[in-house]
Amino acid sequence: MITLKLATSLDGRIATATGESRWITGPEAREAVHRLRAEHDAVVVGVETALADDPELTVRLLGWSGKPPARVVLDSRQRLADGCRLVATAREIPTYVISTTPPEPRLTEQGVRVLQVHAVGEERPELKDVVQSLAAEGLQRLFVEGGGMVAASFIRCGLVDRLEWFRAPMLIGGEGRPGIGALALGALADAPKLRRLEVREVGSDLWERYERI
Ligand SMILES: NC(=O)c1ccc[n+]([C@@H]2O[C@H](COP(=O)([O-])OP(=O)(O)OC[C@H]3O[C@@H](n4cnc5c(N)ncnc54)[C@H](OP(=O)(O)O)[C@@H]3O)[C@@H](O)[C@H]2O)c1
Repeated sequence: MITLKLATSLDGRIATATGESRWITGPEAREAVHRLRAEHDAVVVGVETALADDPELTVRLLGWSGKPPARVVLDSRQRLADGCRLVATAREIPTYVISTTPPEPRLTEQGVRVLQVHAVGEERPELKDVVQSLAAEGLQRLFVEGGGMVAASFIRCGLVDRLEWFRAPMLIGGEGRPGIGALALGALADAPKLRRLEVREVGSDLWERYERI
C-alpha cells in the first residue's frame, strides 16, 4: 500500500526555483498530513528533499502517542548529511537510507539502517526492490512525501495506490520545482489515470484524494 502526498501551489509546484517550500500549504493541511503519516509504517523522501529541508518527518499531533512511522531516504550514494535531524534522531525513531552502495559507517554508527538494493537506470535504487526490502523490515504502508523526482519514479513504476494532493491558492510559475517530475510518456493514452475519491476544504487549501484505477 503506497500513498503519494503532494503539497503544491495551484499550478502543481512544490518549491520555488531556489528550493524554498516552507510553507506552501497552511496549518490545517499540514495537520492533515501529520494524521496521514500516523496511518503509515514509514515516510519516504528523496535525498534532495532531506538535504534541502532537513526535515524530521515525525508525527506532531497534540495528544498523539502511537508508534512513530520509520523515516526512509532514497539516497543512492549516501549523501545524507551527518548532522541532519534525521540522523541525529535515528536512535529514537527507525531511520533507513536506501542505497546502491555498501553501508557507510559514518551513518550506521549513528543508528541509521542502510539497506543496499539493486541499481537501475541512473544507478538509482530499483523501487520494486526497495518496496520488498522495506516490507521485509515490517514496513508495508509507505507514505511518499516527495520530492518531484521521487514522486515521478513511484508513478512511473506503477507503485502509487493513493494520491493525497493538498493544493494551496497560490501560483509559483514554470520556474518552480514540479510536484511530479518527468514521466517520459510516449502518448496521452499512456498517462496514468486516477479516480477522484473526495475533495475537501482544509483551511484555505483544497485536499483532493485519488486512487489508482
Ligand atoms: N511542498 C512539499 O510538500 C515538498 C515536499 C518534498 C520536497 N519538496 C521540495 O522539493 C525539492 C526536492 O525535490 P526534488 O525533486 O529536487 O528531489 P527529491 O525527489 O527529493 O530527491 C531526488 C533524489 O533522490 C535520489 N533518488 C534515489 N532513488 C531515486 C529514485 N528511484 N527516483 C528518483 N530519485 C531517487 C536521487 O539522488 P541520488 O542519485 O544521489 O540518489 C535524486 O536526485 C526541495 O526543494 C524540497 O524543498 C517540497
